Amino acid sequence: MEKELEGLSGEIEAAVTAAKTREELETARVKYLGKKGALTAFFDKLGSLPKEEKPKAGALLNSLRKRSEALLAEKNEMLSTTGNSTTVDTTLPGRSINTGRYHPLTIISNESKEIFKSLNFQVIEGPEIESDFYNFEALNFPPHHPARDMQNSFHLGGNMLLRTHTSPVQVRTMEKQKPPLRMITIGKCYRSDASDQTHTPMFHQIEGLMVDEDINFGDLKGILKIFFSRLFEREVNIRFNPSYFPFTEPSVEVSFSCHVCGGTGCSVCKKTGWIEIGGAGMVDPNVFKSIGYDSEKWTGFAFGWGIERMAMIKYGINDIRLFPENDLRFLGQFE
Ligand code: DAH
Repeated sequence: MEKELEGLSGEIEAAVTAAKTREELETARVKYLGKKGALTAFFDKLGSLPKEEKPKAGALLNSLRKRSEALLAEKNEMLSTTGNSTTVDTTLPGRSINTGRYHPLTIISNESKEIFKSLNFQVIEGPEIESDFYNFEALNFPPHHPARDMQNSFHLGGNMLLRTHTSPVQVRTMEKQKPPLRMITIGKCYRSDASDQTHTPMFHQIEGLMVDEDINFGDLKGILKIFFSRLFEREVNIRFNPSYFPFTEPSVEVSFSCHVCGGTGCSVCKKTGWIEIGGAGMVDPNVFKSIGYDSEKWTGFAFGWGIERMAMIKYGINDIRLFPENDLRFLGQFE
């Protein structure tokens, strides 16, 4: 029996090697390992062998069956991965690879930085944990200004708080650098507000500052016109409305002509032709005084608003809470 099995083993190996398709391989499997297969027939003979020969013959048969099954499985795997014309449809579109995307706030931030860098503005970072001095006092907030209210700030104790806006980075930059200077900063801000469609306790702002001799509102309007025209990829106009901020005098509310209708009025700009974006103004001499700039010699403008607001306007997003939720179905829509 041993000799016969050796011959059978060689035969099986040759048949598996010769199979060029899965069908041929299946035919070989049936021929040797099927119910009426050659190897199976040996198992049937096992019962009629003398008692002392049974264990050895059984072990030989079992090992040959195992080896044959392994050979078949290996060949089967090979045929399905190298492919034969019956299993691979070469006309099917390829499988797409899931690639990561930038978060819409990252996209707007990066675009904003690139535009301002091209206008010779430095991009500066500042701390999110601030002192009362940088967040309020140096920015000329009167002691009873509502923004100092415990309701709006996350106080950390010991005169420290999570910054409520990016304006303190103006002060930190002016402390370190002499004019003339141009800078922007983009970063996280925190206010103790309940979440709703337009508020989240953490949000992002962009802040800009330009200080030089003879800077005026015309410079501010010109820079903002270039910025928004590039960001919204169409020529827009800028409008100033009177407003109030402690650190600018005069202060304005900035609007740009609607990027969708061009200013004629549509549902995006609520038929007004204008979209309000944020605050700006000429730096208050008191701010210059607090960091030691000569306010007789230097003038400057500053501006600041929400990155979320810019993204909502640019992409038509109606709920600010979508940004921190990190739902990939939402995040995958922007580029
Ligand atoms: N810091 C203001 C805020 O958070 C925004 C702002 C308004 C910044 C006017 C400015 C500015 O630099 O000039 O509400």
